[in-house]
Amino acid sequence: MILIIDFGSQYNQLIARRVRENHVYCRIEPPDISIDTIKTLNPEGIILSGGPASIYSKGAPRVDRGIFDLGIPVLGICYGLHYMIDSLGGDVIGSQKREYGFAELLIRKQKSLFAGVSKKTQCWMSHGDSIGKLPSGFAATASTANTAIAAAEDIKRKFYALQFHPEVVHTKEGKKMLANFLFNICRCKKTWSMKSFINHAADEIRRQVGSEKVILGLSGGVDSSVAAALLNKAIGKQLTCVFVDNGVLRANEAGRVIEMFKKHLQINLRFVRSGKKFLKRLKGVTDPEKKRKIIGRTFIEVFDKEARKIKDVKFLAQGTLYPDLIESRSAFGGPSAVIKSHHNVGGLPKKMNLKLVEPLKHLFKDEVRLLGKELGLADDVVWRQPFPGPGLAVRIIGEVTPRRLAVLRQADTILLEEIRAENLYYKLWQSFAVLLPIKSVGIMGDRRTYENILAIRAVTSDDAMTADWAQLPHDILARISNRIINEVRGVNRVVYDISSKPPSTIEWE
Ligand code: XMP
Repeated sequence: MILIIDFGSQYNQLIARRVRENHVYCRIEPPDISIDTIKTLNPEGIILSGGPASIYSKGAPRVDRGIFDLGIPVLGICYGLHYMIDSLGGDVIGSQKREYGFAELLIRKQKSLFAGVSKKTQCWMSHGDSIGKLPSGFAATASTANTAIAAAEDIKRKFYALQFHPEVVHTKEGKKMLANFLFNICRCKKTWSMKSFINHAADEIRRQVGSEKVILGLSGGVDSSVAAALLNKAIGKQLTCVFVDNGVLRANEAGRVIEMFKKHLQINLRFVRSGKKFLKRLKGVTDPEKKRKIIGRTFIEVFDKEARKIKDVKFLAQGTLYPDLIESRSAFGGPSAVIKSHHNVGGLPKKMNLKLVEPLKHLFKDEVRLLGKELGLADDVVWRQPFPGPGLAVRIIGEVTPRRLAVLRQADTILLEEIRAENLYYKLWQSFAVLLPIKSVGIMGDRRTYENILAIRAVTSDDAMTADWAQLPHDILARISNRIINEVRGVNRVVYDISSKPPSTIEWE
């Protein structure tokens, strides 16, 4: 196993993910971990992560320097490198100026960490401090135009230091470097798998919750579904899932969730039909943020009421993923700008006095999907396109009414039928319909019509942070448009959204 010391970098989960990708188990621990605990963990190697602090700033994080006497290989990245160099008697130069972005890395020796890496390769820099003088035993191994010592090593003691970030995709051959560290330097074996993750995670859940009861808000999406399946495996009937029908779900969503979770997985499921309450509160509301807040608040209220019916619940489980945590905080710990209120992060716990169980919080989406498969969830759940918490309410511009919902549901169903028939559903990040209650004139069967416009949105993306509009073939668009205009009463015009994110967002509201 590899121990990652967390100096606060926004990338340290990415380091962990890179290690897992190589089928090596790893743990992320805070810098105050004791040297005795480290000895007990007995790692094959230690990675010191980057971090926002300068080695010279007050309260800069430090780990016990005894790690350098354990005879274990250590890789320092960015702040981790500064810490290593400073601890071992070298000099780190403080700088007010940050170097940020791409740089060309010139490698002196294509050996050890750089075995098999090109002599000139692209790397990603994000630092203020840099190395002034290396400790004895160290040699510089790479440079960039701005940074004379961009990498260094002490082969004898197996200490390696990188000024740039090998874990991010912008460092082209970073994966190779990390694999070199794991296998050539630490001599790790490829023993970690999703199966072993399930065992670890289930043990961890059982340790955390003991014999107490846990509730989980099931949305039917990938994250909460996988969390439910994992908790079900770990604690079975101690878990109760609550599914709230908020009145703004896609067609047939409720039936699908009951079928999958109650019948197939035999999970304790409470199904709460409260659509009417939500729609009543949404009446007359047109502002997108207000709609989101109303749905968020009402959800908490309904969920809270349901949870109180189950006696003695102590824990609330959530399918929070690592990117959810990142998106809700900025690189330096402050609140990031609120673009849209994502109500599924936070919100519930403070009010309900429940302790949180978040078994997926260190995982990325694709890892969660693999986990879901391993837990026996159907492809339809695991590869499901994301669906926002506020549902169809943010896909109806302006006021949400039962009539508009019915129109949107019908159009959306047709769109999905066609997308699935063309085997495009799993290739697209999302594909959905948006109802624009703006009327335009049309003609149908010699009669003038004056009806709504429906927009089709289909995007490709890796992580929803950026997205491109999908270049759907024209014949498919033609078929979708034809069917919607002919079959859905209330729509006489279909348009295709050709905006990417940024500057647009994926959802319209
Ligand atoms: P935007 O519209 O911000 O959406 O580009 C990015 C991704 O997030 C989904 N989304 C949400 N998911 N609760 C969620 O669980 C929400 O409130 C919410 N709003 C947007 C959206 O569908 C896209 O995949």
